[in-house]
Amino acid sequence: MGASPIVLGIESSCDETGAALVRDGRLLGQALASSMDEHARYGGVVPEIASRAHLHAIGPAVRAALADAGLRLADVGAVAVTTGPGLSGALQVGVAAAKSYAYTLGVPLHGVHHLAGHVAADTLEHGPLPNPCMVLIVSGGHTSLLLVRDVARDPIAHLGDTLDDAAGECFDKAARLLGLPYPGGPAIDRAARDGDPSAVAFPRPLTGPRDAPYAFSFSGLKTAVARHTEARGGAVAVGDAAASLQEAVADVLTRKAVAACREYGVRALVVVGGVAANSRVRSLAAERCAAAGVELRVPPPRLCTDNGAMIAAVGDLLVRAGAPAAPLDVSVDPSAPLEYAALCPVAAGRV
Ligand code: KG4
Ligand code: ZN
Repeated sequence: MGASPIVLGIESSCDETGAALVRDGRLLGQALASSMDEHARYGGVVPEIASRAHLHAIGPAVRAALADAGLRLADVGAVAVTTGPGLSGALQVGVAAAKSYAYTLGVPLHGVHHLAGHVAADTLEHGPLPNPCMVLIVSGGHTSLLLVRDVARDPIAHLGDTLDDAAGECFDKAARLLGLPYPGGPAIDRAARDGDPSAVAFPRPLTGPRDAPYAFSFSGLKTAVARHTEARGGAVAVGDAAASLQEAVADVLTRKAVAACREYGVRALVVVGGVAANSRVRSLAAERCAAAGVELRVPPPRLCTDNGAMIAAVGDLLVRAGAPAAPLDVSVDPSAPLEYAALCPVAAGRV
């Protein structure tokens, strides 16, 4: 019917400032500013630089998203914002902006869990999520296998998480060891095109018969890359190492995700987060899902990495599910565990 309100979504948890408008599962307009280039020479995100960049970018990003949608601020009927997890100072910029918009417009504010945003991003491309579905979240800070039912209403069940580094973190650190630029994931993906994925026998951590079936561990892989480069001095075949690392990561991720679908009798796998942009993760997931008779959903790469649309998408789901608004004194929660899509750290009853 198109009667639900237009949701403005704001994302500022790391180095991307995103704003977008979503209604009824449709992306109406969006804008994205990145401070990635400012961090490149430090080899990783510098929180203070990220916060400052968000401060400069947030107003223009909201205006650009509205212009992209052909809408005015007065058309916004609800505001959704990432309240965690992420960098504290960076989150605070987005939350302060979102509160200002919600307060001045007199519309509800919804605090959103960043990772739920990654999950919801897929709905903008492929429509409502199947219930239930298996979700593999692979980002710079998180790697988890989740059993998701109604993402706006039900608790999210974690079948397994990484015990140490996230998959994206492994790519970022390994890229540094291989002399590739930040962010490492895309650089490894590019370098791997010219490499042989079977050149280096990197380990497949936690895939033994006695290992936790759905837990992940990637710090050993990073160490294996360090050993490999040390052993060869300056003479590393970067393409081969990148391709072999990418193969090891993609193998472990997709093997576990498809096994979880089988064990739980779930017919759909959704792969989301920055690492879902990886070409080998995508192709191996497609291959293995097809073999297992599992439907695979992966958002296009631009919706895998951080953006405002994914947060607006969660806001839209929450609004349509009739979720209560967050109070205007909602605070950021930099290390929030993923339990529900809505994240209201000051609200009573959900601690
Ligand atoms: O989801 P995201 O944009 O931010 C977080 O919430 O962390 O994920 C960023 C991560 C980084 O570690 C980046 O290196 C990785 O996603 N990444 C990739 C690719 N594109 C981004 N990793 C592998 N291959 C890619 N093409
Ligand atoms: Zn993210």
